[in-house]
Amino acid sequence: MNIRPLLTEEQILTRVREMGREISKDFARPNEENALPPVALILANGALFFAADLLRRIDFDVELEVLRISSYAGTQSTGEIKLSGVFPTEKIRGRRVIIIDDIFDTGLTLSHIRAKAIADGAAEVCTCALLSKPDRRVVPDSIDYVGFSIPDHFVVGYGLDLNGAWRTLPYIGIIE
Ligand code: IMP
Ligand code: MG
Repeated sequence: MNIRPLLTEEQILTRVREMGREISKDFARPNEENALPPVALILANGALFFAADLLRRIDFDVELEVLRISSYAGTQSTGEIKLSGVFPTEKIRGRRVIIIDDIFDTGLTLSHIRAKAIADGAAEVCTCALLSKPDRRVVPDSIDYVGFSIPDHFVVGYGLDLNGAWRTLPYIGIIE
C-alpha cells in the first residue's frame, strides 16, 4: 500500500493556526466575564491531534470532553454512528459547544452530534473539522469551520486512520 502525500505537516499547522485565530475572533464577546467557558466536544480518536493543536491556538479557556465515536469499517461509512460512553448532557446544558472532528465526509456524524447537543440544551453549537469532502455529503447541514476541502479520496494521518493504522503520521496522505 502506498501513501501519496496530500498535506504537509507545515501546511496543516499553518491552517490550524489560522482557524484558531478565526474562532478566537468569532467567540470574543464582551460582558460575559462570569459565563462558564465553552465546551469542546472532541470526536475521538480521529480528531485528537487536530483538537490538541487547534485548542492551543484559541485565546480563551475551553473545557474538554472526549467522545468515542465510530462509523467506519475500512474505507466505507456504515452510516450508523456508534457512541461509546456517556454523552456529557449535564455539562453542556446552557453552554456554548464547539464540536471538533477530523473530517466532514457524508456529514452524518457531525449532524448527529450537533442535533444531540442542541436537544440536550446547549446554548449555541458550532462545528469544526480539519477536512471536508464536499462530493460525499448526504446531509443538508453545513459546517462552521473547515481547514481544507479535498477531493473524494480516502486519506490517513494526523489522526485519520484506516482500520486503526496510519493515525500517527504527522502529515496527511492519500491511500493508493
Ligand atoms: P461522516 O459521518 O461520513 O461525515 O464521517 C466522518 C467520519 O468518517 C470521520 O470522523 C472519520 O472518522 C471517517 N472518515 C471519513 N472519511 C475518511 C477518510 O478519508 N479517512 C479516514 N477516515 C475518514
Ligand atoms: Mg472519526
